[in-house]
Amino acid sequence: MTDILHQLYSTPLLQTHVAVPLKVLEYIKSQKFRRHDTGYMTHEKLLDDPLLKGIKKLITQKVEDYFYNYCGYAKIVTPVHVSSWANLHKKGDWGQQHYHENSVISFVWYPLVTESSGDFVTYPKDKLFGTTLSFPYREHNNFNSSNWGFTPKTGDLYIFPSTMVHGIAELEEDFDRYSLAGNYMINGPVKCGKVTVECNFK
Ligand SMILES: [Fe+2]
Repeated sequence: MTDILHQLYSTPLLQTHVAVPLKVLEYIKSQKFRRHDTGYMTHEKLLDDPLLKGIKKLITQKVEDYFYNYCGYAKIVTPVHVSSWANLHKKGDWGQQHYHENSVISFVWYPLVTESSGDFVTYPKDKLFGTTLSFPYREHNNFNSSNWGFTPKTGDLYIFPSTMVHGIAELEEDFDRYSLAGNYMINGPVKCGKVTVECNFK
């Protein structure tokens, strides 16, 4: 019998693309950004702005593709946008490790980046054999890596479970880096223990 190595319960991270219209980029740049510890961000209902209606529709279609076609859930439940905001990083800014609470599916889209303006870095919730011991590597792979980084290009869109831990590498050059992140909940009949509840987020 041939050996079979089963890859169980993996995390689906969809890398896709939504082109950035110039009008949309200029609109995002014109927003009021407020400073926090490691960067700047806008208000948290950005995709509800009328000028971003088209982008919201395209991102939602990609989220639906992710949820139904890749994750395999049924169409009686529906992803619904609940929050979104733009991030601005300047030289020295970065994003600490975090995950998104009060959300099911999250995304980040890149209206303006360069190849060296900061990788999107993902982290496992738990290391393969726990945190007690660290072993020398023969090679890094999907099972043993303690982080996995991606270099986004302008227009790239990443969609992932809101529980996935992620961060952004430091921007080491003089550049204004723009990303737009957000969250989706699920509407429709959802099981919570033995009870089915009708979720209706807006
Ligand atoms: Fe995030």
